[in-house]
Amino acid sequence: MANFDPHKGYAPLLAETLVTESQLQMRCGELGGQISEDYAGREVLLICILRGGVMFLTDLMRHIRVPCQIDMMAVQSYGLGARSSNGEPRITLDLNSSIRDRHVLLVEDIVDSGHTIAQVLKILQTREPASLKVCALLNKQSRRQAHVPLSYVGFEIEDKYVFGYGLDLDEYFRNLPFIGVLKPEHY
Ligand code: PRP
Repeated sequence: MANFDPHKGYAPLLAETLVTESQLQMRCGELGGQISEDYAGREVLLICILRGGVMFLTDLMRHIRVPCQIDMMAVQSYGLGARSSNGEPRITLDLNSSIRDRHVLLVEDIVDSGHTIAQVLKILQTREPASLKVCALLNKQSRRQAHVPLSYVGFEIEDKYVFGYGLDLDEYFRNLPFIGVLKPEHY
């Protein structure tokens, strides 16, 4: 990432707006409606993968009409094949709640290589949830290295460097209400 001055705002960095605020809000409504239908008669535990999934979670959950609870977890991202010294993916922040016999829906901002969500699925499956599914706002299918089943996808996107709406540039700009594409000269 090239240096930039966050005090100058996002405009000098923005090549184009990829998903507008209204498109994001509309899609959250659609996904929330679909999830509400699919989980009718059940309760769902929404698990946000920190930190990028925070804004998507808070907007999505407004549209979920079945009883739901939330929890958060964070996992150290590794490259292909990399693992911590004991051979297991590393949790840097674990859940507060037990997921045993519960219907769990992971909420992610973006699935790229798929390694992060694959690691999280592997960890959570051992805790014997009643069901375990993934809702990803953005899917970069062309970058996939690990097979991960995505039950809900907001938008299929090309391999561009995106930021905003939870996704960061050097930890900045997660607060933007839209998703933008970074100018190539800043890669
Ligand atoms: C991003 C994103 C996903 C992951 C996707 O997280 O939020 O968790 O990368 O990439 P993958 O499919 O190639 O594993 P990041 O590690 O940047 O942390 P953040 O959520 O705190 O921004």
